[in-house]
Amino acid sequence: MSNRPTKFMRETLTIKTGHVLPPDTNHHGTLFGGKLMADIDDTASIAAARFARYPVVTASTDSVDFIKPIRVGDAVTLEAMVTYTGRSSMEVFVKITAEHLLTGEKSIAALSFLTFVALGEDGKPAEIPLVVPETDQEKWLNETAKKRAEHRKSRKKDSEELAQFFSE
Ligand SMILES: CC(C)(COP(=O)(O)OP(=O)(O)OC[C@H]1O[C@@H](n2cnc3c(N)ncnc32)[C@H](O)[C@@H]1OP(=O)(O)O)[C@@H](O)C(=O)NCCC(=O)NCCS
Repeated sequence: MSNRPTKFMRETLTIKTGHVLPPDTNHHGTLFGGKLMADIDDTASIAAARFARYPVVTASTDSVDFIKPIRVGDAVTLEAMVTYTGRSSMEVFVKITAEHLLTGEKSIAALSFLTFVALGEDGKPAEIPLVVPETDQEKWLNETAKKRAEHRKSRKKDSEELAQFFSE
């Protein structure tokens, strides 16, 4: 039985809401993918640091699925939560919702999973608490995380091989 400290998933919930302004949009009048990705990384890193209470670095970002365009004038909300913990790594789930402020219509615009690693004072990966899910959605996210972690491991191996190939 592990005697690592635990924290509830809900304690890591990090929410950021803002207007989509013209400088952040492309010529279609929709939010730049790159701007959204930067916001996803920022919000997720706060959830991870809140959980670990250590400095954290992004180890990987899974594909961001852009489901619906986010239009200029919409409110965009990012909700991030730590969903799974290894020894030093954390998976963070981010849900992005667009809201048309005049009609109140809301839709999920994108979803993303990222992995952060906590670094100790020596700059090496540090042990973090275990995350505990409570609701059905949280349990689903936690139980399905191992499979996503396996995909990441094999992708990392592929990337390392590719880096080796291109450095020759
Ligand atoms: C992420 C990093 C700290 C991992 O260091 P490392 O020497 O590979 O450490 P380890 O092999 O011991 O792995 C440490 C943890 O990271 C996880 N990890 C490493 N690379 C990963 C990846 N690409 N995706 C997901 N998890 C990863 C490991 O599974 C391990 O998890 P665990 O402790 O929960 O079991 C290191 O690769 C790094 O510093 N990368 C650059 C980070 C960066 O600059 N980010 C952008 C700016 S924040």
